[in-house]
Amino acid sequence: MEKALLLYSGGLDTSVMVKWIKERLGMDVVTLTLDIGNSDLDEIREKALKIGAVDAITMDVKKEFADNYLSKEIHANGIYGEYPLSTALARPLMAEKAVSVALENDINVIAHGSTGKGNDQVRFEVSINALNDKIRVIAPVREWNMTRLEEIEYAKKNNIYVKSDGKYSIDENIWGRSIEGSSIENINKPVDDDAFEWVTPPYYCGAGESISIEFSNGIPVSLNNKNMDLLNIIKNLNIIAGRNGIGIINMIESRLIGLKSHEIYECPAATIILKAHRYLESLVLNRNELAIKGYVDNQWSNMVYNGLWFDPAINHMNEFERSSNEYITGKVNLKLYKGNIVLEGLESPYSLYDYDTINYETGIFDQNSSKGFIDIYKNETIRSNRIKKTLTVIH
Ligand code: ARG
Repeated sequence: MEKALLLYSGGLDTSVMVKWIKERLGMDVVTLTLDIGNSDLDEIREKALKIGAVDAITMDVKKEFADNYLSKEIHANGIYGEYPLSTALARPLMAEKAVSVALENDINVIAHGSTGKGNDQVRFEVSINALNDKIRVIAPVREWNMTRLEEIEYAKKNNIYVKSDGKYSIDENIWGRSIEGSSIENINKPVDDDAFEWVTPPYYCGAGESISIEFSNGIPVSLNNKNMDLLNIIKNLNIIAGRNGIGIINMIESRLIGLKSHEIYECPAATIILKAHRYLESLVLNRNELAIKGYVDNQWSNMVYNGLWFDPAINHMNEFERSSNEYITGKVNLKLYKGNIVLEGLESPYSLYDYDTINYETGIFDQNSSKGFIDIYKNETIRSNRIKKTLTVIH
């Protein structure tokens, strides 16, 4: 019998899928579950087998996610609106793993649990076929036309045990928790506190705390003067920043498929790390570097959001980002206070900050030379306005 490899989370949709694929499409199902956050792999594996998967493969890919994906995002200051791309960046890793497991097991079909209304279907399908264009991708949720209630019915009828998924649609990994659906879809109401699990809403937070993060070549290498790998810095920061109200994002998002949606995210570590990284960059890179980098960062973020991780343009940008981060080394001290991040100190051996010149008290900078600079600098703008007579005050 033909086999399908199902990217299995253990939730309602993908659990129903194990049965549905077998029943409707006549394929045996092998599940693949990746731990990118805090999945209980053993429990999910048991469940897949109980529902009828012929095999259930699991992998802990957290470290790989941090080292091969998040490190590149930190270099590129990845952000879409205010969203640090936590779900978006995990999809190509899932696609990569799915393709290699499929090939190892002679499977030609990969199934995913995304709906037909979101970005994730695009990310999975573009990524999987960019890695192997022979693999057929199926998305049962797009085809089966079941409401949530009908799915629950189907699950009951087939003895599929699903503990209630809760009121929201959640996707989470170490870089963030995405929350959609239910009352969030009503954009005229405040978000209920029960949406938040990682971040204490700022109005409940206490006196705040100071932290320090050290970067080497654009990557965090120590937290509060303790050396740690990136994964552990992220894990610790999710707790520290979360309890200080940092990382709640509440935004209207423009999806690739042309729909606006209301999205809530909890991204405490991501928010801190990206902010600290930008502080250090602003100290170390000159204006030209910052301008070019800002453009590339923006392109990088849009392409990652839009599912194009495996496009060659991303590789070129990753090279640029790596070299731009070569000197992003130093320490950032921050105070976290009721959802705010306050800069308390910055140092870098490559700092371009020149105290002797910029300070208000002493004068090694000849202020009179600025006049000559301005005389020449202003010419272009003045001439444009004179010739085009665009300003009414010009006679
Ligand atoms: N809108 C986000 C994105 O496109 C997150 C989607 C997360 N999915 C969910 N079931 N909450 O990356």
